[in-house]
Amino acid sequence: MTRGAQRALAATVLGIAAAIAYFVWTVRSMPTPPSGRTGPGLALGLLGTLAMFGAAIYSWRRRFVARASRSIEVDANQRRELLARERKALDELQALQRTLMRNPRADRKAIINEAQRILRAHKVSRTIRGRVEQASGGTVRLVIERREWGGRLRTWYLWHLSLGTLALVLILLHAGFRFGNVIATLAFVCLAGVVATGFVGLYLYWTVPPRLTIIEERAERTPEELREELAEVIAELSEIATNKSKSFLDVYQQEIAIPGIDMTPSLGWLTQSATIDRDTSRPDRLRLIVKEIPPAEQEDFRKAMRLIFRKEKIEVSLYPQLRYDYLLKVWLSAHIPLSGGMWAFSLIHIVSVLYY
Ligand code: HEM
Repeated sequence: MTRGAQRALAATVLGIAAAIAYFVWTVRSMPTPPSGRTGPGLALGLLGTLAMFGAAIYSWRRRFVARASRSIEVDANQRRELLARERKALDELQALQRTLMRNPRADRKAIINEAQRILRAHKVSRTIRGRVEQASGGTVRLVIERREWGGRLRTWYLWHLSLGTLALVLILLHAGFRFGNVIATLAFVCLAGVVATGFVGLYLYWTVPPRLTIIEERAERTPEELREELAEVIAELSEIATNKSKSFLDVYQQEIAIPGIDMTPSLGWLTQSATIDRDTSRPDRLRLIVKEIPPAEQEDFRKAMRLIFRKEKIEVSLYPQLRYDYLLKVWLSAHIPLSGGMWAFSLIHIVSVLYY
């Protein structure tokens, strides 16, 4: 667990413990059962609402970053150049890391200066940063990370979750575990839904991007480029397959269906595996099958099979990226309306209790 995650977790546990202790203490000393109408109940409601506002700042931060990074959005060629420069800088930084590993008591300042010189030389200071961490025993370590504007989004997300969870507990205590008022209960149900889907989001952010980075690096192409290439390969294939014999088309249909995952996003993707394995038995199978194809079509058959191999290779790289995009969209389409409902019902609830 990273230090940021440890801090957010500790703050959540402490906040929850303090809220419960306050609740127990006030309930004991009060003649009436706990409710949102009592002084402590109102205080907990106010704190819960503030925690909800705190958690909501994250969505502002996400939008702010999207706007701020618009100026650094670049076309595919420029992005490729940037990636090449980043790769060179990372190679040099990793060499520096290795030197530091052999000599962990090296001068901290000199290491930072060298890391910055490398980043500047490759013109990647805007996207990558290096920092030196002091470990126990006076040893130092060079950490290389991707630069994120306004602090790491992941840290923001952890605090977003922490405040959301705290808000859930505070509002539960605010209500004194009573759920008679329909609007207030709906606000609470939406809040619980927002927090639950928030944790699903954390799981997605945690598990998918590291796997994706590996796949993208292996593919060395952006998803847009892969998608274009896939469309070209499919067009070429359908051209070759026109006016062919039955035996050609039978094999063709069978082989083109592998890996058997439709590239059009669908809810089925939620239950499907996150990656596609290549069909390793295909080369041997095709070597035997080619004899069954009429001799006049064998040349085209070989060409089609080469294209099918290419199609499979592209799909293996593209599918995890498309699936991740889609999962995020599905997840957001639950998380965002729930938070809309939560704010709307909370507002009606607050206004109504203030008036009546
Ligand atoms: C400053 C903000 C808030 C104030 C002043 C406030 C005030 C109150 C009051 C006066 C009650 C008692 C109602 C009654 O006895 O009929 C109450 C109950 C309740 N509130 Fe709030 N509230 C606030 C925020 C929230 C929020 C943000 C939520 C949910 C997300 C919420 C959920 C509830 C629930 C579930 C109850 C229990 C309903 C019941 O007793 O049947 N409150 N609140």
